[in-house]
Order: sequence, then structure tokens, then C-alpha cells
Amino acid sequence: MKIAILISGRGSNMERLIEAAAAPDYPAEIVTVISNRPDASGLQTAARAGIPAKAIDHKAFDSRAAFDAALEQALEEADVDLVCHAGFMRILTDEFAARWEGRMVNIHPSLLPSFKGIRVQQQAIDAGATISGCTVHYIIPALDSGPIISQAAVPVLADDTADTLSARILEAEHVLYPAAVKMIASGDVKLEDGKVVRSQNAKRADTECPPLFSPAP
Ligand code: GRF
Repeated sequence: MKIAILISGRGSNMERLIEAAAAPDYPAEIVTVISNRPDASGLQTAARAGIPAKAIDHKAFDSRAAFDAALEQALEEADVDLVCHAGFMRILTDEFAARWEGRMVNIHPSLLPSFKGIRVQQQAIDAGATISGCTVHYIIPALDSGPIISQAAVPVLADDTADTLSARILEAEHVLYPAAVKMIASGDVKLEDGKVVRSQNAKRADTECPPLFSPAP
């Protein structure tokens, strides 16, 4: 399976996906990394790892549809099967999301459907949540609302700030995303009629993966 990773910033999740895909038995290959921001440091990281990486600057386009058309063309040129958003801070048109339904996923730093949008770690703290985490989900037009593929939970500690909670969640993201993408690429998870369908293999992987990470020291 050929994968494109979309980023807007440092790309630490992208880096974990690139590392995982470098293993000979990983069922997917990262064929391109695209950022909507030319200054995203993740672009250099990807290039250093030998992955074709480029910016498609959204500011150079006068409409969302025009940006999406340029993105679509880049994905077609790279013959992409699956698009992984990894800190990609750009809302795509409903048409784009519909065209890639079942072939485009995201990682979000909360246990969806709680805490959608931005600053979600602060949202969790403000709500008094004692558990948060991260979610890998299929992308649908409605923001942060697509069918859930996989989740990992972390505790929210009494003295957490958005930064300390983000760091704990990010550690879980780095484990969860490569594992979830592996399940998709090996055909153990797919989207059918808007619902996530799992094979017996995927169900086993879910039960073997500890859902609650230990508190940070
Ligand atoms: C991650 O927390 C991800 O869940 C969110 O944006 C952050 C990106 O971090 N969507 P990185 O660029 O992967 O380091």
C-alpha cells in the first residue's frame, strides 16, 4: 500500500510512520510527504529519511477547492492508496473528503468523540477529564467525527498543563498510529458502509495492546 503523509509542522508522527514503514515486514510504503506550509520542519526530516517531500503552499491558492485540486494532483502523481494526516492543520473541502472516504485517516490527540477541534488537551483539563488519549479515525467531511479505527488512553494528572498532557498523549500517538496504519495496510481494518469492519486479527491486536499507558514519571 502506498501512503502519503500530510503535515503542517514538526511531523513527529510522520517520523514514527516513516520509521515503522522502513521495517521489511511493514505492509506499506511512504511514497510522499506533503505540507501546506513551506516552513514545516517535518519536510526536512522526511527528506533526510529519503522520502520525496514537498510543500503545496495553501496561501498560493485563492480558494479551498483550488488548493485541494493541487493536492489531488500530487496524490495521483504519487499513485497514493492511503492518505495519513499527521498534524495537518488544513480543512479540506467536503468533496475532497468524500472522494477519499475510506482511504484517508487522521490521528487526533483526544479520545473522540470527546474534545474536537483545537487545543483539545486544554479542553480535557478544563472539563476535569481524568482520562484522555488519542484516536486514529477515518476522515469524513465533519471535523474529527469519522469512524474510529483505534484508540489509546492516558491518565490526566491533577497537576497537568496542556504541555505535560500533550507530551504524554504524543507518546501514545507514536505507538498507536504506526500500529493502526499497519492494520489498515494489511487489510485487517476497513471502512464498509460508513462503519469500521475488523478482521479477527485486528480484534486480537486490539486486546493485546494495553489501552491504558502508565503515568509519566
Ligand atoms: C499531534 O498531537 C496530532 O495528534 C495532532 O497534531 C499533533 C501533530 O504533532 N493532530 P506532530 O507534527 O506529529 O509532531
